[in-house]
Amino acid sequence: NVKGIILAGGNGTRLKPMTDIISKQLLPVYNKPMIFYPLSLLIHSEIKEILIITKPEEQNSFKKIIGNGSKWGVKIDYLTQEKASGIAQALIIAKSWLKNSPSLLILGDNLFFGLGLRDLVKKSIKKKKGSTIFGYQVSDPQRYGVVSFDKNKNIKSIIEKPKNPKSNWAVTGLYFYDKDAPKIAEKLKPSKRGELEIVDLLNFYLDL
Ligand code: TTP
Repeated sequence: NVKGIILAGGNGTRLKPMTDIISKQLLPVYNKPMIFYPLSLLIHSEIKEILIITKPEEQNSFKKIIGNGSKWGVKIDYLTQEKASGIAQALIIAKSWLKNSPSLLILGDNLFFGLGLRDLVKKSIKKKKGSTIFGYQVSDPQRYGVVSFDKNKNIKSIIEKPKNPKSNWAVTGLYFYDKDAPKIAEKLKPSKRGELEIVDLLNFYLDL
């Protein structure tokens, strides 16, 4: 009974001035709004209940474009995030909607393509306990959360925007969490930039 969450708030400052009037995740990418890509990943992973989290003032536009999901055979609900206070806050917002279900969380501006992706995701959401992250090798890791590995390829650390990255593996915006994630997210303290950091939540799971 894994449920899906799409986090589609944020300030979109890098895409100003378009984002002064429209959410970044509704801007077109080729022939559809950006959010259709993460939405289709969740639907193809056979997730039947999806929550879309937006800024309060943008919720109606999302509802107009996406609707309640019946045309795709899924149920779509909406909640809002007042301020961009961190990706981990999505799990707190979703807590009562999740009702103790595990979740697959995806950022509304993340587009994933690749051979075998669907099977990989489906496999990852069968887990009963823990979390799964999806890495991607990048040329500018200092801009991302970066994963480092020990010699057996186990994750050693995950560091947000490190000055001296230990690998070029970036954490992407697709995460699977067991049912405990909202409770753990509630225990997090805001970082120096005032956000509930997804990397802090991941490190909590790493320490278990
Ligand atoms: P960011 O890259 O942190 O922010 P942004 O995309 O709004 O753009 P900018 O930095 O140019 O202002 O966020 C990545 C994605 O996560 C994006 O889809 C917005 C979403 N997000 C939220 O919905 N709420 C949040 O609190 C944060 C931090 C991000």
